[in-house]
Amino acid sequence: MTADGKVAVAVFVTGGGTNLQAIIDAAASGKITSAEISLVLSSRGDAYALERAKKAGIPTAVCERSSFDSQSAFEAAILGEVEAHGIDMIVLAGFMSILSRDFTSRFPERILNVHPSLIPRHSGKGYYGLRVHESVLASGDKVTGATVHFVNEIPDGGRIISQKEVAVLPGDTPETLQKRVMREAEWILLPEAVETVAREIAGGNKR
Ligand code: GAR
Repeated sequence: MTADGKVAVAVFVTGGGTNLQAIIDAAASGKITSAEISLVLSSRGDAYALERAKKAGIPTAVCERSSFDSQSAFEAAILGEVEAHGIDMIVLAGFMSILSRDFTSRFPERILNVHPSLIPRHSGKGYYGLRVHESVLASGDKVTGATVHFVNEIPDGGRIISQKEVAVLPGDTPETLQKRVMREAEWILLPEAVETVAREIAGGNKR
């Protein structure tokens, strides 16, 4: 917990960080009151998300998988950052590295992920970023959406916290669909879930 009694959150990122920005904005506008972003950890040194964190005055760290000989060394480095910042809860916001059971089992129902489809549709190993939206368009589905869920050792397999539907429109490209899913679902669901789970952690309640 932070000095003022909030749940200390680490947001893990890899790319643009629009979901990170949604959490930063929700904290600034008072929609998130139970959590504070104490760390932004990126798996890429050139992620724009790091600029967003710096602009918001949030401590950052970079752990690139390619800098380590093994998955366990990579995860040990991540764990070191998490422990150094006294983190209570982790949010995967476009974090494109898989975390092993060894890591996830240390934080049962303390790691959240946002996925850009209605899990179980278009989810699991190999479904990330634009690939998810390509899969939706190829399937002919008329409705897609986003899911926030707890993270366990199964990719996109942990308990679902919330979902929101988004229409697939004629003429959609993976890019236009991605943008609509972010705007209408991800950027709303993720900050809400952060507040909900943080409030439960702060209250000592187990979901
Ligand atoms: C988001 O659409 C997120 O749901 C997705 O990557 C994008 C990251 O964007 N995550 C996954 O596909 C995870 N399986 P952002 O960096 O702008 O938040």
